[in-house]
Amino acid sequence: MPTGDIAWRVGDQSRAHSSRVQDRMLGGKDNYACDAKLADALQVECPGFAKVVAEARAFLLRASRYAAVEAGVCQFLELGCGYSCPPNVHEVVTAAVSDARTVYVDSDPTVVANQRVMLHKNPHASIVWADFTDIGSLLNKLESRINLDEPVAVSLSLVLELVADPTAVVEGLVGALAAGSHVVISHLSGDADLAVRAAEIYGSHGIQLRPRTYTDVEDLVADCALVDPGIVPPRDWHPHAVDVSGVPRRPANAPSQACYAVVGKVG
Ligand SMILES: C[S@@+](CC[C@H](N)C(=O)[O-])C[C@H]1O[C@@H](n2cnc3c(N)ncnc32)[C@H](O)[C@@H]1O
Repeated sequence: MPTGDIAWRVGDQSRAHSSRVQDRMLGGKDNYACDAKLADALQVECPGFAKVVAEARAFLLRASRYAAVEAGVCQFLELGCGYSCPPNVHEVVTAAVSDARTVYVDSDPTVVANQRVMLHKNPHASIVWADFTDIGSLLNKLESRINLDEPVAVSLSLVLELVADPTAVVEGLVGALAAGSHVVISHLSGDADLAVRAAEIYGSHGIQLRPRTYTDVEDLVADCALVDPGIVPPRDWHPHAVDVSGVPRRPANAPSQACYAVVGKVG
C-alpha cells in the first residue's frame, strides 16, 4: 500500500463494496446500484439480516460509550471503519467524555478520502489509511496519534469476517496495547443459518465473508478478560445502557443469534 496522501476519488461503481452495502441496508445514501443489488438480494433471501447489522452497530456504540464512561478510556481506534455512518464512534464518545480522541482506519482509499472530508478540521477524530492485518505497519502509522502507553479501546466491528487470519490481528493488537485497553468485536456467527446464507450471497457478488463459530470467537479473545456478559448476541450486551444509536431496542423479527458481540479487557 502506498504511503502518500490520497486525493478525493469516486468509488468503483462496478462492484459491491462491504461498507456501501451496509450503508444501503441501514438506509443511507452513500451507495451505488451494484451495492443496492446485493442489499436487495439479502433482503429477499435473508430477511432480518439488515437488523442484525443495525444491532451490531448499536453494540459498537454502546461498548465504545462503556469504554469511555465506565472504563475511563480516552483513546479510540476503529479498524475497518467504512464510510461515515452517523452516529459514529467519535460523536458518541466525545459527547460522553469531552477529551476523547478517535482514530479511524480503513484500507480502502475511497473510504479514506471520503472520511477525510467528513472529518476535516475535527479536533476529536481523524482517519489513517492502513491495512490492519499488517500490525507492525499499522502501529507505525498510528504512532503520532495514539499513545500505546495509555489504554486504547480498539473496535473491530463486522470486519474480521473480511480477513483470513483474525487471530493474528487480535493477538498482535493485544500484545501491543497497554493494560486497561479494551477490544470491542462483533462477528457474524458461523453457527447461524442466516449469517451463513448471507455470506453465500455476499460471495456471489464478489465479497468473501467468513462467519465464525462461538468457539472461534472465544479463541480470538482468549488473552483478554471478558467484560460481562461475555460473548452474546449484540442486542444482549448491556441492553439497558443509554441508547446512543437510534436503533430500536427490540427490532421486530430480528434474528438474535446471527452475530456474536464481545468486549475483552487487556491486562
Ligand atoms: C463492513 S465495512 C464497515 C464496518 C464498520 N466497522 C461498521 O461497523 O459499520 C468493512 C470495512 O473494512 C475495511 N477493511 C476490510 N479489510 C480491511 C483491512 N485489512 N484493513 C483495513 N480496513 C479493512 C473495508 O474497506 C470496509 O470499509
